[in-house]
Amino acid sequence: MTPRTPRILVINGPNLNLLGTREPDVYGTATLDDVVRLASDTARDRGCALSAMQSNHEGGIIDAVHAARTTADGIVINAGAYTHTSIAIRDALAGVGLPVVEVHISNVHRREDFRHHSYISGVADAVIVGAGIDGYRLAVDHLAGRLGASATNGAPTPES
Ligand code: DQA
Repeated sequence: MTPRTPRILVINGPNLNLLGTREPDVYGTATLDDVVRLASDTARDRGCALSAMQSNHEGGIIDAVHAARTTADGIVINAGAYTHTSIAIRDALAGVGLPVVEVHISNVHRREDFRHHSYISGVADAVIVGAGIDGYRLAVDHLAGRLGASATNGAPTPES
């Protein structure tokens, strides 16, 4: 039987819709569309399906995490500033029990003290910080491996 295509949900939190123009010295000039394209291309190359959402609202992110129970097999999340404040998003991620990779574009540990603590990291399987938007590629690639996806870069899969 052919295994089902692993499904990855990429969640971006507040202010990440402003990527491209927001503090380019910190976050670079790539846009959110560029991020989603990079993540989608990586997922496709790894034989995964990818969906992406962005919300500036804590509840919107929590609803997306809950919905992922039936629509995704793993989550990549950059919760933006909610990373440092939201026990509710942490609880949602813990509650659905899906594999989670946390991403931050900037190296939060080299920035203000209030960015050094993440409520998400304690429920994440992996954390990628400071790699720029390449962090999303790394996160999707890692999650694909965790979900048992195989490369489809033209290489034959065991099933083909
Ligand atoms: C961020 C880091 C957070 O501290 C900040 O609030 C963001 C972006 C990052 O990707 O580097 O919004 O998550």
